[in-house]
This record gives sequence, C-alpha cells and structure tokens, in this order.
Amino acid sequence: MSRTRALTLLILSILGIFAAYQYNRSTMATTPKLIPTSAIAKNGAIVVGSGLAGLSAASELIAANIPVRLLERNAKPGGNSIKASSGINGAPTLFQPGPPDTEFYADTIKSAGYAMSTAREHREKLIGTLTNSSASAVTWLNTTHGIDLSKVAQLGGHSRARTHRGAGGTPPGFAIVSTLLKSLKASPLFELKTSCTVNRLLRSGSSVTGVEYTCISPEAESTTSELHGPVIVTTGGFAGDAAGLLATHRPDLANFPSTNDPAPGFTHLLTSVGAQLLDMSSVQVHPTGFVDPANPSSPLKFLAAEVLRGEGGILLHDGERFFNELETREKVTAAILKNPPIEEKPKQWDVLLVLDEGVYEAAKSHIDFYIFKGLIRKTTIGDLGEKALPTIQEYAGAVAGKYEDKFGRTAFANWKLLEPEADSVVYVGRVTPVVHFTMGGVVISEKAEVLDAQGVPVEGVWAAGEVTGGVHGGNRLGGSSLLECVVFGRNAGERVVEYVKKEEK
Ligand code: FAD
Ligand code: SIN
Repeated sequence: MSRTRALTLLILSILGIFAAYQYNRSTMATTPKLIPTSAIAKNGAIVVGSGLAGLSAASELIAANIPVRLLERNAKPGGNSIKASSGINGAPTLFQPGPPDTEFYADTIKSAGYAMSTAREHREKLIGTLTNSSASAVTWLNTTHGIDLSKVAQLGGHSRARTHRGAGGTPPGFAIVSTLLKSLKASPLFELKTSCTVNRLLRSGSSVTGVEYTCISPEAESTTSELHGPVIVTTGGFAGDAAGLLATHRPDLANFPSTNDPAPGFTHLLTSVGAQLLDMSSVQVHPTGFVDPANPSSPLKFLAAEVLRGEGGILLHDGERFFNELETREKVTAAILKNPPIEEKPKQWDVLLVLDEGVYEAAKSHIDFYIFKGLIRKTTIGDLGEKALPTIQEYAGAVAGKYEDKFGRTAFANWKLLEPEADSVVYVGRVTPVVHFTMGGVVISEKAEVLDAQGVPVEGVWAAGEVTGGVHGGNRLGGSSLLECVVFGRNAGERVVEYVKKEEK
C-alpha cells in the first residue's frame, strides 16, 4: 500500500471513530445516508408503542443490559393493554384447578376457524408458540415480576378455566402494565418518550435502521427527529380506526360502537418496508359492551368483561336466553346479530347481562366498578319482565344438574341461585356488540421477525402484539391477546438482544 493511501485510510478511520463517538453521544443525531449496522445496533433498541407487547420486549432488552428508547404517541403509556379486564391465558399452570390442561392448542385452532384453511403450516407454528409458551408467560409475570395471577376463569371458546387475573381488586391489564413500567423506569438504560408518534421507519439499503418521529410538547409545539437502532414495532390494532383501516377492510362494521378509543392504525409503518398483511378483514366484534343509561348513544363503550359470563352470568333477549354464553365471541355475537338492531347510530341491540349473588362475589371488584359507573344495577328478577323468571329458573335447573342446558353450556362457575323467585336479587346491565380487536396485521415468524413477500425477515425490524396478524385466525379467544403480547413481545426482545450482541462482535 502506498504511503499516501495508508495516510488517507488512517485519517478516514480517525474521522470514522470521531463520527461514531458523536453519534453515540446523542441519540438524536441526524441520519447519515448509509449507516453501518454495527453502529446502529450499539445505540440500543427502539420500541414503538408502550402497550404490553412493547413493555415485554423492552423488559427483555433491559434485562440483557441493552438500552431502550420507547416512543409512545399518547400522553400516557399503556395502550389498550392497560384496560384489559378479564386476564391472561396460560396452560398448564399451578393456578389452574383440575388435571394438567393440554387442550389450549386445540381450542385455539378450533377458534381460529375458517382461517386455518389458508397458510395452515404458518399459523400452526404461531399458535404452537403462543400456547406452548403460555405457562412460562404466566410464570414470568407472576414469579419474575411478582404479579398476582392466582384467580382463574373459563372464558368463551375455552374447554378449561385458563384465564388468569389477580385475586385482589386490581384489574389484570393495569396490574401487569404498571408493574412492568415501574421496573423498566428503575433502569438508567430505559427512556420513555410520550406524546411522540413514529411517522416512518428509516432504511439503509433494505435494512431498517431507525425511526423518524414527531413529539408534541405541552405547549402544542411539534418537533420531528430521528433515532437510530433496531426497531420493535408494537403499535396495537386498528379497532379504533373507524374511518381508516376499519372502513377499508370491514365497511359493514360502520356505525358499530367500539371499546377502543378513536386512533389510526399503524400497519403502514411496516408495509412500507416490505411487510405483508394477513387476516385484515378478521375483526372481533365482542358481544358485550355496556350501553350506559346516562349516555346510551356514545360510540365508545365500556367493555362488559367476558369474565362476568365466565363466572356464571347469562344473556337475555326479550327475557329469554338465546345461546350458550360460553361459546366463542364470534358465535355469541352472530346470535345477537340475527335480530335487527333497535338503534342505528350507533348500531345497538337490546341484550341484558344478568348476574346472581354468586357471580357478584366472584367478580366483586369488576361489578362494584360497573355499579359505580352506573352500567350495572342491583335489582330483582321480577323487575326484568314476565319471561325472565321462568328463563332463570330453567337455567338454575341446568346449573343444579337436573338436566342438560338447552344451549349446551357445561360450565356455570359461581352461579349459586338455584331456587330463583321474583324477589331474588340479580345484577343487570344492558349490553350490545362492540368492535373490540383486530386479528389481522403484519405477517411475523414465531420469532417475531417481520416477513416480506418471500417469507424472508426484513433486517432490523421486529413486531409483536395486536399489530401482527395470523396468531388468532378468524377469532381470538378471550385472554389470548395479553398472552400474545408477552410471548411475541419477549421473543422480539430476545431476538434484538442477539442482533445487537452479534453486531457488537
Ligand atoms: P396496545 O396495548 O394497544 O399498545 C399500542 C401502543 O402503541 C398504544 O399505546 C398506542 O398509542 C401506541 N402507538 C400506536 N401507533 C404509534 C406510533 N406510530 N408511534 C408511537 N406510538 C404508537 N386482552 C386479553 O388478553 N385479556 C383481557 O382481559 C383483555 N381485555 C380488554 C379490555 C378492553 C377494554 C380492551 C379494549 C381490550 C382488551 N383486551 C384484552 C385486548 C388487549 O388488551 C389488547 O389487544 C392488547 O393489549 C394489545 O396490546 P399491544 O401492546 O399490541 O397494543
Ligand atoms: C374481556 O374482558 O371480555 C376482554 C378479554 C379479551 O379481550 O381477551
């Protein structure tokens, strides 16, 4: 090598070291056009969205001493995850009553339904990962993070009780999100930026190298900046995107109320770097959102948690039961929609959720909250019209084992009212179907890699949680969304740890 060439190389490498030093010093550095992947990985990782998927991924990274910058578009963290009210699935766990539960995989395949006729092998891998990792997900939350998940209920479409929540009054979503956040915030390697929306992913060649994002200050000033590093996208679903993705993929659901706050979906972040979409028209309409008597036409509804039916509650239309309340959400909703709506804007049906004292005791903290909100009232069966008493007497006979339930329900949990009379106490609320969850999203591998049209992982980006598609097929089982967030969120975190360590070598 000539002396001039050697000198030029020396100067270039000194400049390179200086540039890398400047780049590492400020995580807000402006993007060079082409950044070596090694430099990107050393800054740590970027997580987009602070729901349970994002927090699970971030927890794995922090546990491996990898710095995390977490960007959240809302002023407060937690996404829909913080609202979760029934719990997280796990099987087999110590908390489940009875013999070891081996049916979770089969129940999930059955619930996924017609979707299993396409991409079956791919879906089986995802469902296998979800269900086989479910016990360790519950252990991770319970043992590693100290979150009480000792109470277990059977939700619709499950053949066993496997949805875990705490025995105290704290709802499971809040308990899980607040505990993980607290633990993350205790680390100097963790930085949370709220009111910051990621607009696009940055690329260098075909690899994702970071994000461009815009933050809104309390004074409503906006600043757009860039961050560089491997990216985990956990932006949630599009059930609140009525005028956007929902209108595109399910125009028939226009005017349905929703449990999700209005907000745009963000799958385009990933499709713009080659991700594929799956199951976008599979939208879950949950059968029971409360119609608030104080604001009956609000398009945003409080969810009447499925655990209320799981603990023994029933549904009445015109004073009569009409279906097995513990069938999958898809089927219970379809049974309600067979009748015409009684209101058009929003579209609402007339269904009563009825609970007895036994259910009240089993789900006291939920029900007290709904009573406080004016969504459930304590009354007597005589107040529910003529047909309610014989209907509830017939149900009580099935609970007592006098005959089989005429709708095929086999689990009655804590329903205790075996001799109903007109003056027996019940708890009732009006409910209607609500857009709740989107099964569709970007295609991922079981390692949470984002796959392109050839099924090849896009370098530098991973995804987990409701933004992904394929894990639930045509219908998600209650309790399996928090589970998918933990399982695939942790998988994404672990893969990024490997990626960063490999790049560091
Ligand atoms: P989310 O928790 O929704 O988090 C996504 C976050 O990303 C949000 O905070 C959002 O603001 C942020 N974000 C979006 N786009 C951007 C962007 N471009 N830049 C920055 N940030 C962005 N599931 C269960 O398993 N069990 C339950 O008991 C249960 N109960 C539920 C009760 C209710 C009322 C609701 C609405 C849902 C419930 N679910 C339940 C479903 C479950 O809570 C969610 O599907 C799941 O938590 C989604 O988690 P996630 O991390 O994927 O998304
Ligand atoms: C519910 O509590 O009914 C919601 C549970 C879920 O969406 O998994």
